[in-house]
Amino acid sequence: MHVTLQIALLSEIVADWLIVPLWEKDAPAGNVAELDARLGGLLAKLREQGDVAGKAKELTPIYQTAGIAAKRLLLLGLGPRDRADFASLLSASAAAARMLSAKPCGRIAFALPDGPSAETALRACAAGFFQGSSTAGIRKNTVERAPPAEVCFVTASMDAAFAESVRRAEIEGRATNLARELVNTPPCDLYPETFAERARESAIKTGLEVQILDEQQLVVERMNALLAVARGSDRPPRLVVLRHRFGGDKPTLALVGKGVTFDSGGLSLKTNDQMVDMKCDMAGAAAVLGAMQAAAELALPVNLVGVMALVENMPSGKAMKLGDVIKARNGKTIEVLNTDAEGRLILADALAYAVDLKADHIVDLATLTGACMVALGYDVAGLMSNDEAWSQKVLSAAQAAGEKAWPLPMLPHYGEMIKSTVADIKNTGGSRYAGAISAAKFLEEFVGTTPWAHLDIAGPSWAEHENPSRDAGGTGCFVRTLVELARTYGA
Ligand code: BES
Ligand code: MN
Ligand code: ZN
Repeated sequence: MHVTLQIALLSEIVADWLIVPLWEKDAPAGNVAELDARLGGLLAKLREQGDVAGKAKELTPIYQTAGIAAKRLLLLGLGPRDRADFASLLSASAAAARMLSAKPCGRIAFALPDGPSAETALRACAAGFFQGSSTAGIRKNTVERAPPAEVCFVTASMDAAFAESVRRAEIEGRATNLARELVNTPPCDLYPETFAERARESAIKTGLEVQILDEQQLVVERMNALLAVARGSDRPPRLVVLRHRFGGDKPTLALVGKGVTFDSGGLSLKTNDQMVDMKCDMAGAAAVLGAMQAAAELALPVNLVGVMALVENMPSGKAMKLGDVIKARNGKTIEVLNTDAEGRLILADALAYAVDLKADHIVDLATLTGACMVALGYDVAGLMSNDEAWSQKVLSAAQAAGEKAWPLPMLPHYGEMIKSTVADIKNTGGSRYAGAISAAKFLEEFVGTTPWAHLDIAGPSWAEHENPSRDAGGTGCFVRTLVELARTYGA
């Protein structure tokens, strides 16, 4: 799907559908007023009759369009204008996209909403269109939804920032959908080797440097914690390192992702209900790949390194056992008391590796704990950090991208929870309370003094049910946040 821009009167736009956004209270903006005049006051009449109120995600198709060039109209409610932000415009746009893409929809024109800013409106509506028009039904014989070839934003006047916004919107939309698609791909097809190959493909296309460490190289690199998790599976692990060096001698930002392509729990086997969606356990690595691809395509003037730790967590005669003690890359010893707390084990080595690559700042993304969902629910990621200023930067990036993250405390006493009697630390908190934080305290042991932020995305990475704005399944969460963070990191 291509995002384009056209300066024109709405009445003169040639399109199969013209999406006309309406605020809940405010009168329509100048360009919509012009359209309504050509429609003989139809829109004003529908409002007066109470047929259309402009409520968020309200969809009103109109098939009778005498007087204008577009074949059909879709009136799209945006909710109150004074509460509009990136997230509200995104979900309204996604609802429209979801409706239109359920049938062959041809060329779509979208009248650019006049707020909160033209630039935000354009990127939010485009992001929504990518979200709403693509589907998790990737293996269905009858396609349920297909994105249009083009969505064209229509505006009355040109803004210098538009061209860049259009490009950015398309790149971010594709990157987010790549992450979604990877999460939705069945685990029989997506395992460490095939994930690594997808990363290589993307790297070659976009000019990222790529290095893929196989089992032997992981042994040489002393990634024993990652290898311990991988040992239970017939699928060998991989560690993918992507580099984007466009920042000269500026500092380096490392993005580290948990990529458990299937989490059965290992010997601490999950129940069927707990395991059923565990192909989603690589969403952190998918977000890192999406963001690195987007950063390369945008040629952001920054130094980035993306590290993806890819394993499958399975029970077998070779699987790690409860009570095993492993020595991680940074020399710390870990007592394994639950093989289902595998994410922190693979991240231990991946984070230590990022530190050794001389990263100046680190963000990791991981579907790490069910406890984070108990704390914050489905839609909000937990943010835990060893550095207040860096944590604020990550939060601001999330906010600018319309994604939700919330800080959880990292007080020193939580560190008591991961003390082991036989080793330096153990891989569970020993209690179901503060489980997201004890996991983060574990990760903190592997970042040294590097400013680091951890996003626990167990909730937002996966949508259990569909809603008017998206299909169930992978969400591609935090790709846009990472791109925004990289963009501001370079500034
Ligand atoms: N991948 C899971 C966490 C998860 C749960 C992600 C639900 C998405 C939805 C992780 O590896 C895990 O199993 N965590 C355990 C940790 C526990 C054993 C200390 C958990 O949360 O139960
Ligand atoms: Mn697990
Ligand atoms: Zn897991």
